[in-house]
Amino acid sequence: MPSHLLSFADLSYADIISLLDTASDLKEKRERGKTLDTLKNKSLGMIFEKSSTRTRISFEVAMTELGGHAIYLNYKDIQIGRGESLADTARVMSRYVHGIMGRVYKHETLIELSKYSDVPVINALSDLEHPCQLLADLMTIREYKGKFKGLNFSWVGDGNNVCNSAILACALTGMKMTVACPEGYEPKHEFVQKAKELGGAINIIRDPVKAAKNADILSTDVWVSMGDEEEYDQRLHDFRRYQINSKLLEQAKHDVMVLHCLPAHRGEEITAEVVDGPHSAVFDQAGNRLHTQKALLLKLLS
Ligand code: CP
Ligand code: NVA
Repeated sequence: MPSHLLSFADLSYADIISLLDTASDLKEKRERGKTLDTLKNKSLGMIFEKSSTRTRISFEVAMTELGGHAIYLNYKDIQIGRGESLADTARVMSRYVHGIMGRVYKHETLIELSKYSDVPVINALSDLEHPCQLLADLMTIREYKGKFKGLNFSWVGDGNNVCNSAILACALTGMKMTVACPEGYEPKHEFVQKAKELGGAINIIRDPVKAAKNADILSTDVWVSMGDEEEYDQRLHDFRRYQINSKLLEQAKHDVMVLHCLPAHRGEEITAEVVDGPHSAVFDQAGNRLHTQKALLLKLLS
């Protein structure tokens, strides 16, 4: 296991399988009401520059249920918000907590924190990636499909942070990835390049119908990510053909599963009938954040 989790590519295939096995075991234990205190007296400092429902709650509950403690730190309330350097913040926090989790605008913020931190730093969403999300997505895919290798994973919509991590996750687990996005919204070249170096099969196309054809997994995310709000009108216009709806679903395999990291904007990137319909796995996916992050915390903080 790496000492930090900043990019999904920090994980090897063996790391992923080990994390998912631990997560499944922890999920089963929780369902049986079995409690753990493996992280007793350990604390996680959670720096948030952006809003969160799932990430904040699942990390906080994960720490509680492992016997530890999580501290929510809105960046405006800590001295970073008044100009204290990331380097000093990381050095000071390392003397108190056993792990630092950050949801930030710029990915470099996490790199800077990890450079000066003596404790593991976890990426809880940056402009480039959302590795914790992809751990939960993989767990959900394994629960529904029982395997990864050879599955067709199709992404329809913005080639954004979640998409970048999905590209790496597909390459590492042997899923064939197709991304259908409008011109100008492609995933970053470095992620496509990295996926190819890892032996991944990845296709960037324009046509969402082509992407949906034979898909085992159809995934999307919001058209307007946090930080992109000024482009709202332009994006709504540019993405209008990239909605996951019943018609698009018909192109996919009969047992296609639909993923969305949430929050969902019904009527924009996905319709209500799909996100609330029989192919949707989005609430299991959100639920699995708790178990995969517990597994991650056990590996990094123990
Ligand atoms: N999917 C996800 O990370 O959700 P939040 O923004 O609510 O944390
Ligand atoms: N792409 C979205 C994901 C939110 C969980 C964003 O960055 O806002």
